[in-house]
Amino acid sequence: MKFYALVILLGIISLQPSLQQSKNQLVVTLFYEPLCPFCRSYFTDHLYYTYLMLQKYIRLELVPYGNVTKELHNLEYTYKCQHGPNECLLSQFQACGLIRSTDQRSQAEFIGCIESESKTAFNLKAFGACGSILGLSGKELMTCALGPEGLNLFGLHGEKQKLYITNLNQIPWLVINYKQVKLEKPEDTLKVLCQYLKNEPLACKEILLSSNSQNSIVMKQN
Ligand SMILES: *[C@@H]1O[C@H](CO)[C@@H](O)[C@H](O)[C@H]1NC(C)=O
Repeated sequence: MKFYALVILLGIISLQPSLQQSKNQLVVTLFYEPLCPFCRSYFTDHLYYTYLMLQKYIRLELVPYGNVTKELHNLEYTYKCQHGPNECLLSQFQACGLIRSTDQRSQAEFIGCIESESKTAFNLKAFGACGSILGLSGKELMTCALGPEGLNLFGLHGEKQKLYITNLNQIPWLVINYKQVKLEKPEDTLKVLCQYLKNEPLACKEILLSSNSQNSIVMKQN
C-alpha cells in the first residue's frame, strides 16, 4: 500500500514540468474535460490567449480528466468519462502529448489545436495532425493513448485532480498556486491572473489603462 502511494506520488511529481519554474511564476492549473463544450471554449477563447500574454509569468499545467467514474473490476481500473469513451480516449491522447513535451507554449498550442478541431467533429486524424506541434506523429500518440502508458497517465491525472480539488462541483476548474479559484466570468481570466501578479506584466498595465480610460469617458458623459 505504501509503495503504491509512493509510486502515485512520484508519478504526479514527474507530471509537473517543473524545469522552467521560477520563483515569480504563478502556477496555473486547469482541470478540464476535452469534450465538454464550456471547457473547450474556456480554453480556446480565454485561457489560451491569457497564457500567450502572460507566458513568462505563469507556469501552465493542463490536466485533462474531469468528472470521471473510476471502478475496480478484477484488479483493474475502468473509467467512465462524462462524455463517453471518446472523451477518455482523448484525455489519454492529450496526456500522451503533454508528457512528451517540456515546452509549455507548444503544450498549450497542442491542446488548443485539438480542442478547436473537436468543435466540429471527433476526428482522430485531425487530432493526430496536432501532434506535429510537438514533433510527434498521430500514430505515436495513438499507440500511447490506446496502450498502458495512456491509461497510466490518465490515472495519474485523476490522482492529481483528487489532490487539488475536494469537491468537483464545476468543470473546468482553474487552480492558481494550488488553490481553487472561482471564476465568475471566464472573460476575466486575464484580470484575475493580473491581480495575482500585482499587475506587473505589461499586458496587465494595458488592461488597467484601458479600463481607466473607459471610466473617464463615462465620467465625461455625466
Ligand atoms: C458528474 O457525473 C455524474 C454522473 O454522470 C453527475 O450526476 C454529476 O452531476 C456530474 N457532476 C458534474 C460537476 O458535472
